[in-house]
Amino acid sequence: MPRLVRHDLTGPIKIEPQDKPVFICGCGLTRNFPFCDGSHKACKAERPDRLYVYDADTQTVVEERPDGPS
Ligand code: FES
Repeated sequence: MPRLVRHDLTGPIKIEPQDKPVFICGCGLTRNFPFCDGSHKACKAERPDRLYVYDADTQTVVEERPDGPS
């Protein structure tokens, strides 16, 4: 069953369980889940009042619309 999962973060979540930090993906675009792979750079131009839909393969925006109740 396909689904849309909303991610509001535009960067990774940093955790430091060991002697070096680990970055967990917070944007939902990584190809190496749950770890950040730098794909969040695609989110940099996002506006907070808009909703973005990304193509899972190309990680490019395929739809953009106003965010809020519909
Ligand atoms: S936070 Fe998602 S790829 Fe970096």
